[in-house]
Amino acid sequence: MDGNGRWAKLRGLPRSAGHKIGAKTFQKITRYCNQVGIKYLTVYAFSTENWARPKEEVDALMSLFREYLKDAHNFADENVKVQFIGDRSAFDDDIISLMEECEKESADFTGLHLNIALNYGGRDEIIHAAKTLYDDIASGKIKDKSEINKKLFSSYLYTSGQPDVDLIIRPSGEYRLSNFMIWQSAYAEYVFMDILWPDFTEKALDKALDEFAKRNRRFGGV
Ligand code: FPP
Repeated sequence: MDGNGRWAKLRGLPRSAGHKIGAKTFQKITRYCNQVGIKYLTVYAFSTENWARPKEEVDALMSLFREYLKDAHNFADENVKVQFIGDRSAFDDDIISLMEECEKESADFTGLHLNIALNYGGRDEIIHAAKTLYDDIASGKIKDKSEINKKLFSSYLYTSGQPDVDLIIRPSGEYRLSNFMIWQSAYAEYVFMDILWPDFTEKALDKALDEFAKRNRRFGGV
């Protein structure tokens, strides 16, 4: 959800003001994805590198997460299943509890599956998976090297049980992946859009989906 800072700067506002509007855009787009029948949506809300931002910006983001999580019950009537991906242990205890509550409350919902990536990094996710796999080898749960394949490894990722990524939309005019779902996006289609996240609309999403529908996906075949 990139471009919040620039959106605010263009208006002479603090960066946190951009995140605040960005949070509204996130809720609007989540609702829309659910309405149009998208099954999985992952939003990148806070990376493992974002802790390096000025303290007041990090604090403002934590307040926004708290606000959203307390409010998340409002999503209950929309049937959205919420899951957090990333290393949550770095957050304050109250945020961790709110995350757990949110996941628990929405666990049986059958609408959109929403992954919110918080303190997430693709490389960290792979290392975390490798360490858990190591534990399972050490405990004898995995007995032979031949059991390790792509399917098994995927099951150690935060997105265990979910399909691979089909489409990645990066707003704000940047042409980078920035450590986002690097395992899951091996065959993803990319749509880069020159629109700052707070300005992102349902129409922009439709445009990205139209672009995706035109792509000829061969998955390495012919
Ligand atoms: C990147 O834009 C955005 C972020 C690091 C924060 C994204 C978080 C939200 C939109 C808050 C809502 C999320 C939830 C779950 C309530 P940037 O600040 O790097 O923008 P810039 O590149 O223009 O500086």
